[in-house]
Amino acid sequence: MTIRFDNRVAIVTGAGNGLGRAHALLLASRGAKVVVNDPGGAVDGKGGGHAAADKVVDEIKAAGGQAVANYDSVAEAATAANILKTAVDAFGTVDIVVNNAGVLRDKTFHNMTTEDFEFVVKVHFLGTAYVTHAAWPILRAKAYGRIVVTSSNSGIYGTFGQSNYGGAKLAVVGFMNALRLEGQKYNIMMNALAPIAATRMTESLMTPEALAKLRPEFVSPMVAYLCSEQCQRTGDIWSAGAGTFARIEYREAEGLRIDGRAPTIEDVADNVEKIADVSASRVFRTSGEEVAAVVSGS
Ligand code: NAI
Repeated sequence: MTIRFDNRVAIVTGAGNGLGRAHALLLASRGAKVVVNDPGGAVDGKGGGHAAADKVVDEIKAAGGQAVANYDSVAEAATAANILKTAVDAFGTVDIVVNNAGVLRDKTFHNMTTEDFEFVVKVHFLGTAYVTHAAWPILRAKAYGRIVVTSSNSGIYGTFGQSNYGGAKLAVVGFMNALRLEGQKYNIMMNALAPIAATRMTESLMTPEALAKLRPEFVSPMVAYLCSEQCQRTGDIWSAGAGTFARIEYREAEGLRIDGRAPTIEDVADNVEKIADVSASRVFRTSGEEVAAVVSGS
């Protein structure tokens, strides 16, 4: 089976560099018409220009693919909507949205300004919501859609100095968890990627040996699969990097059950290790499943 994207239109945000570029090149090489979105600028989101997006569009066209550039920021609702307009004007519709755009403004929380906090949340979380919101009516009307949000092990597991970034990166997972349910009956599949790759964003954080193994192209097959018709999974988090692919899942401990009387603080204090022990654990797919289990004590 060869996975193809003929007659599919894909938007890849932040596709001028790193992972987004690799995703765009792979999708285009398999027949997708790609909107290469990127306003340019540095890792911290400062500056801008057309060169990053234009270069990737040129690469796609040189390889025989179809692509159009868009230079709008995902971080404002109006400019994000314009990314969709580019897709519709150039290719008539949209089928695939890869929310990949990202910035870093790392500092310990103590030293972080609220402006740096807000900016990072805006690009990663609100940017994902704005672009997806603009695409949603089209996907819903055509009863087809594949959406990827880009999370991070920083949000899932924690990285020192990334309270803004980590918070925003887990926010997109919460966002996906709701849209997975809302999109299911419209054949809109939505998944989260937790990539690990050597890009300008990570080059200062990793050793040269790690960087050599972490080619962005090694992540993109996961994204392309999640964007394919063949993908029938929705609402999962997928780690991908250096040729390793693995699903990440939350689990909830069996915990402690107090029945027939009101629980006390001491019940919690005396049993905190049991409450924390996930050696026997459960996995819930919706908040309703968890509430039902808690209420029934099962
Ligand atoms: P990168 O810096 O090479 O690429 C990010 C791209 O997003 C840049 O081209 C940038 O111009 C663009 N961008 C920034 N602000 C934008 C905005 N407002 N609107 C549209 N585009 C904008 O970094 P990399 O590593 O390729 O990151 C891609 C995504 O993967 C990001 O969301 C990042 O947080 C995420 N990620 C990367 C990891 C890694 O190991 N490289 C690890 C975990 C997550």
